[in-house]
Parts: sequence; C-alpha cells; structure tokens
Amino acid sequence: KPCILLGAPVQDGAGRLGCDMGPSAFRTAGLVGELQNLGYRVEDRGNIVPPAPREVRHANGAIKALPETVAWTEALSEAAFQASAEGMPIFIGGDHSLSAGSMTGLARRAAEDGREFFVLWLDSHPDFHTLDTTTSGNLHGIPMAYATGLEGFEGYFPPVVSPVKPQNVCMMGIRSVDPAERAALAVAGVTVHDMRAIDENGVAPLLDAFLKRVAAADGLLHVSLDVDFLDPGIAPGVGTTVPGGATFREAHLIMEMLHDSGLVTSLDLVELNPFLDERGRTALLMVDLVASLMGRRVLDRPTQSYRHI
Ligand code: ARG
Ligand code: MN
Ligand code: MN
Ligand code: MN
Repeated sequence: KPCILLGAPVQDGAGRLGCDMGPSAFRTAGLVGELQNLGYRVEDRGNIVPPAPREVRHANGAIKALPETVAWTEALSEAAFQASAEGMPIFIGGDHSLSAGSMTGLARRAAEDGREFFVLWLDSHPDFHTLDTTTSGNLHGIPMAYATGLEGFEGYFPPVVSPVKPQNVCMMGIRSVDPAERAALAVAGVTVHDMRAIDENGVAPLLDAFLKRVAAADGLLHVSLDVDFLDPGIAPGVGTTVPGGATFREAHLIMEMLHDSGLVTSLDLVELNPFLDERGRTALLMVDLVASLMGRRVLDRPTQSYRHI
C-alpha cells in the first residue's frame, strides 16, 4: 500500500500567517525522496483545495475564521475517509485545525471497517477547546475536542459520524494547558502524559504501555505530530513555541518505537511555519522524524513486535 501525501495548506487556525507554506517546505526538505529511499511507493496528491466557505456565525466573538475552518474540515474529513482505504495517508500541514478533518475521516473509515481507532497526540498542547471555551479564538486549539465528540460543535462543524473514543487517545509532551482544557481533560478519559511524566519515566515505558493497548485491540493508530511537541531549541519553525519540549533523542526514540510496533496507519504533520524557521532546520528535522517513523534506523536490530501479542 502506498504512502498518500495530502497537502493541507491551512493557516487560518493558527492566528498568524505562514503555515500555508508548510506543505512546500516539507516537499523542499525531501519528504518524498526519504520515503522512496525507505522503499515505499509514494503518491503525492498535491494540496487539497477546500470548498468556498459558507457564512457561519458563533456567539463567541473571539473565534477567528470559522467558515474557512469548517470548509477545510469538510474537505479533509472526506479526503481522509477516501485515502485511508487506499494506503497510508500522511497529512502535510498546515496548522493543527487540519486534524479536525483528518481524525474524523479516519475514525469514520475505521468504524466502517469494524476496527478500533487510536490516536497518539504529540504536542505541547491538548487542543481540547470547544467553540465556547476558546479565548484566543484560534481554531487550531479545538481539533481534539471536536473529534472526540465534545458538545458545542453541532450546527457549525460537520456532524461527527464516528467520534474518537477519549480512552483511545494518548497525549505526550503536554506542557501548555488552558484552564477550560484542564477542566475538560479531568473528566474526559484521555491519557495525558505531560512533560513531568516524561521526565519521571522516560518516553519509552509510557509509549510502550499505549502501544500494547493498541495491539491488544488490533487497532489502527493515527499519529498527530505538532512541531511544538519538540523543544524550540531544535524546532524553532512554529508559531506557538513552548519551552521544555521533547528532545531530539526522545522524539526519534518515539518514532523508532512506533515503527517497530507496526501499528501506525496514518499521520499528521502540523504547525510547521517556514516563515519562522531557520534555514529549513525544523522542516529537515520533521522529515528525519518521519524517516525514523517509517523505518530508518542506525543498525539492524531485533524489533519488538506488538502486532501478535
Ligand atoms: N490553547 C491555546 C489556544 O487555544 C494554544 C493552542 C495551540 N494549538 C496548536 N495547535 N499549536 O489558543
Ligand atoms: Mn497542536
Ligand atoms: Mn501545539
Ligand atoms: Mn535527510
């Protein structure tokens, strides 16, 4: 099955310009060639073009670009649903609002196929705001709340046919949470590993436990990788830098473990802002992380398989 690259140059959710150049930067950084070098067939389907936005208004006056984000969500959800039947979709952002579309389309496909759907969310933020709770109004802060079926999106966003089960979501790297998100997470049932948990345990046992759960359910695993999961010292090309992020080694270890697991069936690459990058270093790092996720390794080694336990 091919890797299906879907460019999503959405920037309206980020509250600043620049993420629309993300897909170009990923391609310039050599994403296609890296995947081909690893032996994959790659279908780059170019960039998705969303439908013309329709007028949508919400009582929360802080919200920015609601019609545009709704249009993107419709297009992306449909693209995710289609592409996941044909190969491994890789969504190249674009800000994190794109995951409202990718996750709902993928979850719908999984439900149709009778498969359990899991999400590994690698981000400094939980992006767990509803339309009512966001105070910044930047809709890259809402995709996980929407995809898990929290209330308040009905009548604005497309109906969520198959919500992602909160118990099937594992977040790692979390270190910037707004009060409303914190309250919602406290009751949601999402597994949240903040940076303290990573410091105390290391990434490996935390990820291992989650991968075992995915394998036990014979699940499909979607990985949503926000650039700001990484420490800004190694990944400056993002609008929402938060100090104290994942190191180069932690990030690569996660990617290598994900590859070894054989469980990953789709991927979001989000929040790269090439306008803020330094000589492409963030784009190049993200491409190297994808290579690790897809099987690049330093030495041959026996791999722990999760599929058959
Ligand atoms: N929670 C903050 C907000 O709602 C930050 C969200 C950042 N999200 C992201 N995908 N970078 O504005
Ligand atoms: Mn995010
Ligand atoms: Mn983030
Ligand atoms: Mn390289």
